Amino acid sequence: MIQGIGTDIVEVSRIEKIIEKWGPRFIERVYTPGEIEYCSKKAFPAMHFAARFAVKESILKSLGIGLGKGLRLRDIEVLNNQEGSPFLQSNDAVKEVFRRRGISGVHISITHTKKYAQAVVILEK
Ligand SMILES: CC(C)(COP(=O)(O)OP(=O)(O)OC[C@H]1O[C@@H](n2cnc3c(N)ncnc32)[C@H](O)[C@@H]1OP(=O)(O)O)[C@@H](O)C(=O)NCCC(=O)NCCS
Repeated sequence: MIQGIGTDIVEVSRIEKIIEKWGPRFIERVYTPGEIEYCSKKAFPAMHFAARFAVKESILKSLGIGLGKGLRLRDIEVLNNQEGSPFLQSNDAVKEVFRRRGISGVHISITHTKKYAQAVVILEK
C-alpha cells in the first residue's frame, strides 16, 4: 500500500552557488561520505548534489515533516546500485521514523538536466 509520495525540484545553479560560497561546510553538513564520493567524480557534480538535495526534501515531504522535525538532511543517504538506480540507505534515525510509521519500502526516482534536478519518492507501507 502507498503510504506517501513526495517530489521536489532544485535549480542546479542554486546548489552550485552554495557550494562555491560554503564549500565543504555545506557539503559535509548535508551529504554523507558515500554521496560526496559519488557526486564528486561526476563531470558536473552540482547536478548530482542538486538531485540528492531534491531526494532529501522529497523524503521529508513524503513523510509530511519539515526540517528540524526529527530528521536532518544528512540522515537521508541516496546511493546507487550497480545498474545506477538510486536507493535510500537508511541510518538509525531514518529507520526509527519508518518503524514508527510502519513504512516497509521506499522508491526513489531522479532526473536532471544542467538547469534542474528533480526527484520523486514513494513510501510503501
Ligand atoms: C536510467 C536512464 C534511462 C537514465 O536516463 P537519462 O535520461 O540518461 O538521465 P536522467 O537525468 O533522466 O536520470 C539520471 C538518474 O537516473 C537514475 N538512474 C540511473 N540508472 C538507473 C537505472 N538503471 N534505473 C533507475 N534509475 C536509474 C540515477 O539516479 C541518475 O541520477 P544520479 O546519477 O544523479 O543518481 C539511463 O541511465 C539508462 O538507460 N540506464 C540503464 C542502465 C545502464 O545503462 N546502466 C549503466 C551503468 S552500469
